[in-house]
Amino acid sequence: MERTLVLVKPDGVQRGLVGRILQRFETKGLRVVGLKLRRFPEELIREHYAMHAERPFYASLVRFMTSGPVVAVALEGENAIAVTRNLMGATNGQEAAPGTIRGDFGMSVSFNLVHGSDGPESAAKELKLFFGADGDLVDWTPTLESWVYDQDDQG
Ligand code: RTP
Ligand code: MG
Repeated sequence: MERTLVLVKPDGVQRGLVGRILQRFETKGLRVVGLKLRRFPEELIREHYAMHAERPFYASLVRFMTSGPVVAVALEGENAIAVTRNLMGATNGQEAAPGTIRGDFGMSVSFNLVHGSDGPESAAKELKLFFGADGDLVDWTPTLESWVYDQDDQG
């Protein structure tokens, strides 16, 4: 099992898409283990996107991400990081495949609705950033779990 961080960005919240976006992850079989809506502090957003600090879009990205409420979601599942990125689609909504969140809901490269951690290191860092050092997260097993994963599947 792996954990990853998803953010529903301010455009997704403002457009009333939080429920439909979360539903994509839930119906896929990913488990929500953390959930919070906040207007996150600029410092936290700067740190979250620190890898882009030198990019020309960094300032506008930080402005966008602090312009309104964001929903932070911690998801758990087998290969949760890659599965989540696949459900999100390509960065630019105009290029993202139909069926993906960005492909179905967006037309912009910057207002692209969702963030997902891009690897195990960033997932660990981002989960800590948004859900606290000791993990404001809930360990639980859905009762339908045995119908999501086949225990006979070969690794
Ligand atoms: P994210 O980190 O938010 O999950 O998105 P990503 O991996 O698909 O894209 P990344 O290259 O990491 O870029 C981070 C976010 O910055 C905004 N962006 N704007 N104006 C631009 O050219 C531009 N390029 C990127 C997007 O919001 C992108 O998701
Ligand atoms: Mg990224």
